[in-house]
Amino acid sequence: MCYAIPAKLVAIDGQTGTIDYFGEKRQILLDLDDVAVGDYVYAQGGVLVRKIPPKEAEEILEHWQTIFFELKKTDAALSKIDQNKLSSNALAVLQKVNLRKSLTPDEMLSLFNLQDEQELKVLYEIANNVRQREHGNSSCIHGVIEFSNYCSNNCHYCGIRKDQELPRYRMSIEEIISAAKEAVDEYGFKALVLQSGEDFWYDDAKLITMVREIRKMGVLVFVSLGLRSKGTYQKLYDAGARAVLLRFETSNKDIFAKLRPGTNLADRVQLIKALKAMGYVLATGFIVGFPGETNNDLIQNILLAKYLAPDMYSFGPLIPASNTPLFGSPKVSKDLILKTIAVMRFIDSNSNILVTTALETLDRNAKQEALLAGANSMMINITPKHYKELYKIYDDKADVTKEIKQSIQETVKMLYELGRAPTDIAAHAVKTRPSGQARG
Ligand code: 5AD
Ligand code: SF4
Repeated sequence: MCYAIPAKLVAIDGQTGTIDYFGEKRQILLDLDDVAVGDYVYAQGGVLVRKIPPKEAEEILEHWQTIFFELKKTDAALSKIDQNKLSSNALAVLQKVNLRKSLTPDEMLSLFNLQDEQELKVLYEIANNVRQREHGNSSCIHGVIEFSNYCSNNCHYCGIRKDQELPRYRMSIEEIISAAKEAVDEYGFKALVLQSGEDFWYDDAKLITMVREIRKMGVLVFVSLGLRSKGTYQKLYDAGARAVLLRFETSNKDIFAKLRPGTNLADRVQLIKALKAMGYVLATGFIVGFPGETNNDLIQNILLAKYLAPDMYSFGPLIPASNTPLFGSPKVSKDLILKTIAVMRFIDSNSNILVTTALETLDRNAKQEALLAGANSMMINITPKHYKELYKIYDDKADVTKEIKQSIQETVKMLYELGRAPTDIAAHAVKTRPSGQARG
């Protein structure tokens, strides 16, 4: 079983339900017909994904009963703050965070300018403390299936851009469904991200079949397909996709235009807004460390991300990919990403923040550090191994040589050590769902 705790549905109000994890309550979208108060369910990203037979749920809950409270203690102990070593300037800014006041761009900049190791330590501790205050110890793990490395775009930073010479693959719809089935039945995933380059070989009909069949497995279907028409995204929503990942990459429109030939920032932002309006649980974010980017750009990135009001943020460092125009760009420092996570946590305290594979690729220990600097969510790559190696958006991608089981074991162990429990991370519940469509 992968990392997830069953919840009990304790109240229903229209399409919104209240669930309970050992006394902790969350609001979710009731994305299934035929649920009643008293049912046991799995929720992911604020969406009810599956009912669980009572006997099975009670057995699993019995296993978690003691562990859950022990994890909470560990998390609380790791979320303490030691402010002794702070300069008075940084302290004043961080006091504002503690008082739940919003930060000005200049104050955010002053946090990005911190260099002293002790001060950075406190910065991350406070971000972790805010994460704990807002979310308790809940965390979630999504599985990612990278189903095609074809892309019709030529982004200067990306290792699977159209002009890149590399062996290409496309998983058939049957292969994708069977990889999803294995992820659900064998490894226990409750949320699956279906990711690819912008590959129009997968037309609406193929994508709809894929989404519909995977939704029937009782999981949150999360799509990450790049620029597609609003019409396509609407059809996928109607087929049961409930979450979408689409980064805006950078808020600097000149950098955007230069690095993403043939596309522009305004269109991308507009699509992201439209996806949110459709009711998708939205994950967005940006890449940190493009050449020419300043700390001020980073702050603008953070502000644009917040303006888009996503349910989840995803950002990672640029990892220069061989044979791409950006190969040879300077390595991004781990602290720059940790600062980004921490500041994002301050300015949108209730958000969910993902730890990304790019960060893990930059530094194999960074996953844990990110979770202690404000992040609360993770993804595990569950692409079949022979394809995973070919989804080379950047070099030396973390995890490609690992078996899925090993990645899960390592992640669960780390989350245990950090005192994180797999209760739903409570994204803002989606507002609507197509009426009359039974799911699961
Ligand atoms: N380094 C880091 N992230 C990258 N992506 C693409 N290329 C790189 C790279 N070289 C990210 C983009 C894209 C996501 C799927 O991968 O942000 O949205
Ligand atoms: Fe394609 Fe995305 Fe890579 Fe750009 S970043 S080339 S859109 S996979």
